[in-house]
Amino acid sequence: MPELLMNAQPVLSLRLSASYPGRPAVLRDLALDVRPREILGLVGQSGCGKSTMALAILKLLFLKGGKMSGSIQFNGRDLLPLKEKEMRGLRGKEIALVSQSPISSLNPALRIRTQMEEAWNIHRRTTREECTRAVLGALESVSLPADETFLRQYPAQLSVGQAQRVLIAMAVLHRPPLLIADEPTSALDIIIQSEVLELFSSLSRKLGMSILYISHDLLSVAKISHRVAVMSQGEIVECRKTAELFTNPLHAYTRKLIAALPVAPAFSSGETLVYPEHATMIAGAELKTPNLTM
Ligand SMILES: Nc1ncnc2c1ncn2[C@@H]1O[C@H](COP(=O)(O)OP(=O)(O)O)[C@@H](O)[C@H]1O
Ligand SMILES: [Mg+2]
Repeated sequence: MPELLMNAQPVLSLRLSASYPGRPAVLRDLALDVRPREILGLVGQSGCGKSTMALAILKLLFLKGGKMSGSIQFNGRDLLPLKEKEMRGLRGKEIALVSQSPISSLNPALRIRTQMEEAWNIHRRTTREECTRAVLGALESVSLPADETFLRQYPAQLSVGQAQRVLIAMAVLHRPPLLIADEPTSALDIIIQSEVLELFSSLSRKLGMSILYISHDLLSVAKISHRVAVMSQGEIVECRKTAELFTNPLHAYTRKLIAALPVAPAFSSGETLVYPEHATMIAGAELKTPNLTM
């Protein structure tokens, strides 16, 4: 990411607390900034509150019975006081979400064309031709066949990887400034995972889109993120440039996460940096994850 943008006004600036009824707080005054064009990785173990945070940003926590407070500054305005109607105008258009289970996120009874056209028409009033052009353009941008045969398919006719690409195409249909990806590769096998990671990276570059990339997998996060935020028990304990986090982790929890990695992380810049505790662990192993060019 150009150094200049590191100092630009954040696209998203959070201060969030959240809880579910009868349970201790899940998010505890969590603070996080996402900058323009940045891929910010968010890691933390299962149950630490990552998905709660993703839903809270979109003000969808009420769907799970949760409550939230704080502020969600998005492009300079606070989303927290906005009414549900205003949020509906914003979700999918300015902030898009891609979640973990592609198949269940698509409607099994509707053709891909119908679902993508719906996603377009929710926010735009255009001619049929413009709608079709936008849909085909989005399919092309995620390297899916942009043709009638593909559009006529039902979700069950797609592979999980293709279904995830359809959801990503729907998420970028309106070219949102911010995309939240919540464990988007968890349901995919390892090769497809790597391809989807690369896709996020190239979409961010091409569309100038910021991505909040959530995962429990530090290695995949390290591959595409400019900075990484580490979350533990509802708080961000550390947020640094990716290479810095690995070479000089400040928080004990970050050190633990790094030490537990099975292989050395590969960064977008091409360097492989090994943290001392980690090096001991993988001594002799020449494993290296594939690189992505940013
Ligand atoms: N609808 C809910 N009602 C009560 N507790 C919930 C609900 N959803 C999540 N939780 C709890 O909130 C915590 C954080 O969950 P979640 O945000 O899904 O974590 P993560 O995405 O990091 O795995 C967990 O302890 C989980 O059990
Ligand atoms: Mg989750």
